[in-house]
Amino acid sequence: MKNNFPGMSKKKFFIQTFGCQMNVYDSERLGQLLENAGYQPAENPEGADLIFLNTCSVREKPAQKVYSSLGRVHGLKKRNPRLVIGVGGCVAQQEGEALLERFPYLDFVLGTKELFRLPAILEDLENSGKRQAAIHLEGRTDPYASIPLSPPAGKAFSFVSIMQGCDNYCSYCVVPFVRGREVSRPSREILREIRSLAAGGAKEVTLLGQNVNSYGQKPGGEIGFVQLLEEVEGISGIRRIRFTTSHPKDLSPDLARAFGRLSKLCEHIHLPLQSGSDRILERMNRGYTREEYWEKVGWLRHQCPDIGITTDLIVGFPGETEADFAATREMVERIRFDEFFSFKYSDRPRTRARLFPDKVPEEVSRRRLAEIQSLQTKITQERNKLWEGREVEILVEGRSKNNAQDSTGRTRTHRLVNFPGTDYPEGAPVKLKITQAHAHSLRGEPLGEGETRP
Ligand code: 5AD
Ligand code: SF4
Repeated sequence: MKNNFPGMSKKKFFIQTFGCQMNVYDSERLGQLLENAGYQPAENPEGADLIFLNTCSVREKPAQKVYSSLGRVHGLKKRNPRLVIGVGGCVAQQEGEALLERFPYLDFVLGTKELFRLPAILEDLENSGKRQAAIHLEGRTDPYASIPLSPPAGKAFSFVSIMQGCDNYCSYCVVPFVRGREVSRPSREILREIRSLAAGGAKEVTLLGQNVNSYGQKPGGEIGFVQLLEEVEGISGIRRIRFTTSHPKDLSPDLARAFGRLSKLCEHIHLPLQSGSDRILERMNRGYTREEYWEKVGWLRHQCPDIGITTDLIVGFPGETEADFAATREMVERIRFDEFFSFKYSDRPRTRARLFPDKVPEEVSRRRLAEIQSLQTKITQERNKLWEGREVEILVEGRSKNNAQDSTGRTRTHRLVNFPGTDYPEGAPVKLKITQAHAHSLRGEPLGEGETRP
């Protein structure tokens, strides 16, 4: 590429990522693609020649954040008219050409399945000077076909996307419309990528997808999810395997048994419940009842009594009555999640729920959100307390955010633990005795290096 000639300074890029871990993964790979094309990363947006926003539209709030970010980036373009600005991902897919019309300073828009064509789009832009929106959703079945399979080395914690899209059409959710139909990546590519990550020093790998439990059941996949986990278990160098997100309706007894059987598979599952009321679950098109969910929690706890179970909940879904909300509260009390993410319902474009007439007033949703959050905070604290005095192994993630003399890492059950000392390399296993439980973390004392497993 032009800016790769010796003696010429390289152009700098800055990618801002919104939303989920899948976007974090995609942005990392996009950065790699840009470096291969002769760009280099900028430390901050001010020093960049290209700013790319990788966006999320799952709820109204993250989508709004994109627009305020665009405003800030516009300020930079006023000072540097040569700055190239692009928007990609879910908001790009949703809005398409309209973004170019609404923001005249925007140079290009790249949909979810066109993301990895970024270098080609940039070259096009440079040659033709023409603004464009590339948002084909169907037809291109493998958005990952063009990404490098030798991921960046030297990272102890790695993410690998195993599937794209979602076919579930929950009535509140925009994902099927912006990410398209469910497509699994071929297992040999996933495994090749993880082997390469392991050779580069990865210790923990998280498999990503909107609905990983249905891996392999849709176009592209040749083996099932549990079989994929077994294959990853066999990769030496990897100590821990995690995955997210699971759909309760697709959680099989076989997967529950895998938690008891596969030694590298961490005892944690993120299993979005969304609501504890059968009436609301039905209107959400979730495909399970509260009792079915409870039964699956039973399978998991039977295999691993300590398994960390986290969830997502939506309050104020259209038609949610006080009785429905009480049913959600009751499920939160019964299941005793280790942690949860809770959201006020927001209308999303093209979804069925957007057309439901019986919207819940904002102040009611706000009150329910505060109520459910204070209940869960109490439960999280009580669940953390149960770990006091126990021995755990963590993998070091880095310095603690709150105290520069401390390091931090997570247990296999996904609890954050802070402990004294900073001489640990990233990814090192450390055995700790838990001395104190806080609201959202634990405190521990080192007992020495953990035994090294393959
Ligand atoms: N309103 C509120 N929350 C939503 N989520 C998805 N769509 C909506 C919406 N329209 C939440 C769900 C999902 C998480 C990623 O975002 O809880 O699991
Ligand atoms: Fe959205 Fe439901 Fe698919 Fe999750 S399973 S991405 S909530 S449609």
